[in-house]
Amino acid sequence: MCAFHLTRRRTMAPPPRLDRLSIWDPIHLGVDEYATDVACTLIYRHLLLAGEPGAGKSNALNLVVAHAALSTDCELWLMDSKRVELGPWRELAERFVGPNLDHAIDTLAELQAEIDHRYDLLDSGRRRKIESADQLPVIMLVIDELAYYSATIGEKRQRETFAMLLRDVVARGRAAGIIVVAATQRPSSDIIPTSLRDLFGYRLAFRCTTDSSSDIVLGHGWASRGYDASTIDPAERGIGWLLAEGGIPRRMRCAYLTDQQVSAIAAYALQLRYPPTQADEPPEDPHEQDQHPDHLPAEHDQDGEDTDV
Ligand SMILES: Nc1ncnc2c1ncn2[C@@H]1O[C@H](COP(=O)(O)OP(=O)(O)O)[C@@H](O)[C@H]1O
Ligand SMILES: [Mg+2]
Repeated sequence: MCAFHLTRRRTMAPPPRLDRLSIWDPIHLGVDEYATDVACTLIYRHLLLAGEPGAGKSNALNLVVAHAALSTDCELWLMDSKRVELGPWRELAERFVGPNLDHAIDTLAELQAEIDHRYDLLDSGRRRKIESADQLPVIMLVIDELAYYSATIGEKRQRETFAMLLRDVVARGRAAGIIVVAATQRPSSDIIPTSLRDLFGYRLAFRCTTDSSSDIVLGHGWASRGYDASTIDPAERGIGWLLAEGGIPRRMRCAYLTDQQVSAIAAYALQLRYPPTQADEPPEDPHEQDQHPDHLPAEHDQDGEDTDV
């Protein structure tokens, strides 16, 4: 008698699937001067961001971290000396380092050991790099204010240890599925020596104080050819020159995420990564549970229509 009723109940739309991203996909950063989307694919590459305080570095970091947070194939390892810039992602992060240099050193040493382990795997399989089919999580290490750890706190020996470990992670991490995204407001040669800078496949120079500091980020000679981040108007926050490996710098404006949007994305990403278990869910309506669909009165139909034909 209620065949139609049953069919309708069985073909109800499935619960909505939570959309997720992948760290192997391009990451949207903003638009260029022609309003064309600008994205970067960070797998096998690293990203360096530099510029004056207030130029837009932390916001750009948040764009990248938001994509990584929504990518369940990526682990987040975060270092933020202020704790508040990357703080909204803390619950999602595998590691979160605040203003503690020993903790930062231990975390880098752990990452270095993971890189060694991954190279053992690659070596045993006679392969050169991690592929997505390996099902190993990509690890994204994000550092907001590199100079805090490499040049500000602790003793000289500790800072050198930090810098040495970071150099190794940046140099050997790429093929092992480790991405480094680092920001600094001190684009000077002691913080970003050329040998370290050149290991970053993407470099984004926000407003810099001088043309030489712009060149320290982008590379020697770009400022004299007109690609000079010191000419960016200080009021133009979020504008920068993005240099991708082998290309010419591209002037762009980063997309902007408000604090509310960052919180909402972080909450959504938390659900994606740790779906609520049955124990977390509210108990089902006992009437719904106990009754066989055949015995359901017609008014229980989804649309509230009498479909019991
Ligand atoms: N892409 C952007 N578009 C619009 N405003 C931005 C953008 N990026 C940053 N801002 C503004 O500039 C302020 C400073 O940005 P922030 O990312 O904290 O700079 P930094 O980390 O370089 O000191 C932000 O609070 C925001 O008001
Ligand atoms: Mg900042």
